[in-house]
Amino acid sequence: MDDMQIIIDKINDLKKKRNAVILAHNYERGEIQDIADFTGDSLGLSQQAIEQEADVIVFCGVHFMAESAAILSPEKTVLLPEIYAGCPMASMVTADALRTEKKKYPNAAVVCYVNSTAEVKAESDICCTSANAVEVVNSLEEQEILFVPDKNLADYVSRFTTKTIIPWEGYCPTHNQILPEDIIKAKKEHPNAEVLAHPECRREVLDISDKVFSTTGMISYARESDSTEFIIATENGMMHRLRKENPDKSFYMASEFAVCPEMKAINLQTLLQSLEFMQYKITVPDDIQVKARHSLERMLKVKRSR
Ligand code: 13P
Ligand code: SF4
Repeated sequence: MDDMQIIIDKINDLKKKRNAVILAHNYERGEIQDIADFTGDSLGLSQQAIEQEADVIVFCGVHFMAESAAILSPEKTVLLPEIYAGCPMASMVTADALRTEKKKYPNAAVVCYVNSTAEVKAESDICCTSANAVEVVNSLEEQEILFVPDKNLADYVSRFTTKTIIPWEGYCPTHNQILPEDIIKAKKEHPNAEVLAHPECRREVLDISDKVFSTTGMISYARESDSTEFIIATENGMMHRLRKENPDKSFYMASEFAVCPEMKAINLQTLLQSLEFMQYKITVPDDIQVKARHSLERMLKVKRSR
């Protein structure tokens, strides 16, 4: 038996012993996605965190995702195998800065992308993900929306609403560095391919893409579409599932640099240690948790677009 298989067997044994479930984001390493009980986008993972009947959730993703699971399922122990796996975009807005901005727009509702800290969620009226951002914004009564922290997602939403969107200056470094030139080059190389882009990409990229989806939206679309070739404008972890689930179709990365180091921080060894030593426990102070849960639960009542 090779070393990798030994680790996999140990993980599966410990998973049973701890009554644990492994949730993984679509950007995680292939071997982490393969061992997970559920792989999905931010919205799907939040729903799974509630639905899974387990004592322990091992969250293979970044900090805000594990934190959301802990907020939504406070009775479960939530573990993040690599405590330093954080989202740079989530760090681009603080609760203090948001409180200051809210004073400037007293009539605005605050919509916060789930890529944010629990404190920021607690300061917001409702959360959204890339799978439901337009629906969330249009579900609100307020005409003015303070949208944090992703300026690209805010801009994307502004095209599908009559509301005034006030964007924050945050962005995802991985998606923001995908340029229109990358798409143009990839289209020249693969003229029959459909371009699927994530709404964290800049407007100039979305303008020359065929479809815009969350990560799970892309997976569903690629499965159902008659096209056999796709250019993928998002993080490269997506290639694993897309290729595995569609062996007869071809997938090309729009940019070879679209890699999120934070999403690659967890490996089989750290996952095993997480289950072995029950590390790292993610908890949220009660007062923050109650308010943040309200924003997340309000979001979960809104239907996802895809
Ligand atoms: P989704 O999987 O929800 O589309 O999120 C993308 C992302 O960047 C998560 O960090
Ligand atoms: Fe954050 Fe972007 Fe990485 Fe997602 S891909 S965790 S938004 S930096």
